Amino acid sequence: MLLENMSYIEVEAYLSEKDIILIPIGSVEQHSPCGLIGTDFITAEAIAREVGRRMDIIVAPTLPYGMSQHHMAFAGSATFSPETMISVIKDITKSFVSHGFKKIVYINGHGGNINPVKTAFDSLKYEDTPGLFEIISWFLLPEVQEIEKSLFQDKNGHHATPGEVSITKYLRPETFKTKSTRKKEIEHFNVYWPLSKREMKLFYPDGRMESAPWLAKENYGKLIMEEAIRVIMDRIREILKITVV
Ligand code: NI
Repeated sequence: MLLENMSYIEVEAYLSEKDIILIPIGSVEQHSPCGLIGTDFITAEAIAREVGRRMDIIVAPTLPYGMSQHHMAFAGSATFSPETMISVIKDITKSFVSHGFKKIVYINGHGGNINPVKTAFDSLKYEDTPGLFEIISWFLLPEVQEIEKSLFQDKNGHHATPGEVSITKYLRPETFKTKSTRKKEIEHFNVYWPLSKREMKLFYPDGRMESAPWLAKENYGKLIMEEAIRVIMDRIREILKITVV
């Protein structure tokens, strides 16, 4: 059920029965020479939309941009400042709350979004905004990480992972005809966070973070995505049981 295809009459009818909405969020940032700049929002959107379809839950339009300041030394990346990201999440959340949605669940594809989204939730609660606000990051689900470990052992890494690249390869195979598949060394650093764009480029000159994105395969993507959908549906079932006061 995609919000963008509904009328307000249909949304009102939905709200007479349900009060949950899913909002996919990602990033517009480089994913090494092997992966797509849209990786994080493409994965989050596909997973959220499938969860919404299977559970008859409204999925809002995707917020493709996120907090990606450490990727800004790579062409094509774009970022919100932390302050803007917090404001955007607050405004979107408050908009849906104002119409009667009580459970606002962000389905997230990008690690850099977690802190600002949670800070936005804190700020909303500081302002006494009613509702249950949640962020589910598909790539952090233990069940998903277990599958990735069985497929890629210690080569999944932290960014431009073969796991996320596999999902985009499954969803948009034609875009990979022009992408690199060259194997490179995997280097491990004692790194600190957060990183500036200059520091990121020095630690990770080709944009990977200890990952082997050339291991990505379409059928792995299907497998990983299916597990993410399954586990998120379980989480949503738990959220549906909670009474918002
Ligand atoms: Ni990513």
